[in-house]
Amino acid sequence: MAETGIDIHKAAVCLNSGKIVAIPTETVYGLAANALNREAVVSVFEAKNRPFFDPLILHFHSVEQIKAYTNNFSPIATLLAGAFWPGPLTMLLEKNDKVPDLVTAGSPYVAVRIPNHPLTLSLLQLLDFPLAAPSANPFGYISPTTARHVEEQLGEKVSYILDGGKSKVGIESTIVSFVNTEPLILRLGGISEKELTEKTGIEFTKKLHQNSNPQAPGQLDKHYSPRKTLVLTNDIQNFILKNPLPKTGCLLFGNKKAEGIPNNQILNLSPVGSDREAAANLYEYLRMLDSMDVNLIVAEKLPEYGLGAAINDRLLRASIK
Ligand code: TXA
Ligand code: MG
Repeated sequence: MAETGIDIHKAAVCLNSGKIVAIPTETVYGLAANALNREAVVSVFEAKNRPFFDPLILHFHSVEQIKAYTNNFSPIATLLAGAFWPGPLTMLLEKNDKVPDLVTAGSPYVAVRIPNHPLTLSLLQLLDFPLAAPSANPFGYISPTTARHVEEQLGEKVSYILDGGKSKVGIESTIVSFVNTEPLILRLGGISEKELTEKTGIEFTKKLHQNSNPQAPGQLDKHYSPRKTLVLTNDIQNFILKNPLPKTGCLLFGNKKAEGIPNNQILNLSPVGSDREAAANLYEYLRMLDSMDVNLIVAEKLPEYGLGAAINDRLLRASIK
């Protein structure tokens, strides 16, 4: 079992000696290592069972620090940084030689962000290197939004779990790229497409899938998956009527119902219909359904507004066999 606590100095000692520490962020917990220490980075890939072709995001405390590891921090990067950092936005920037190729899986571009969590920002300030940190879950499984989730799945693989409470946003950062001049969203996440455009005036194109998108090699189709089969439907009530299985767990949103299913097998992401509340509950509720005595999980698509699109993206990938 890993030690869990709020001691950033202890976390720093572990990271300085090349060990892995789980860190809280506003999106999900990360499995962090010194990004400049190749062996430490390798151990992150291994702990997650993650293929080496799937690159890692680097976490920094400031734009000044990012500039020491990248070239051409452009006006558009400055605009996005001012609007959204610290926060759930990741940008692809041209890396310099200080960033090991291992981190970017050989790409000349590195994914960077400044997370919005007080403990992790204080920890980053204690370190003289950025942290490479993928989400702290075994590859392909549901991302963790509490220290306990990390402990349950990767407790033996980390030296220390920094406990920053429940992640407030609850889904991963939005990843954007503008490296080939065209502004692209590579992964939907904690900042909606609408918010991106409203705050910057920039129109982004979505390019989300791996096959059509060599810039995000890690955006594999199947992802964020519970162990149980998950079905995503436009109409849960109709699905239940046509497939009346007693051991079905349901994931609802807003005022939707799942009549015929016992109440203790139904979870509602946000009875009041808030996309933000739904995002914050998503992974926790998927875990709860995964550990219930059910054979099948049925989730209903959310309306596409705000974070609904990012949540549907996660549910769709979770439903792929
Ligand atoms: O919210 C988040 O972004 C969380 C927290 C811990 O910061 N991190 C996270 O990391 O979601 P991960 O490794 O689970 O997902 C990172 C995604 C992957 O799809 C990966 O392929 C993509 O970012 N990515 C990372 N570096 C990249 C690069 N250089 N070029 C293209 N895609 C990259
Ligand atoms: Mg992940």
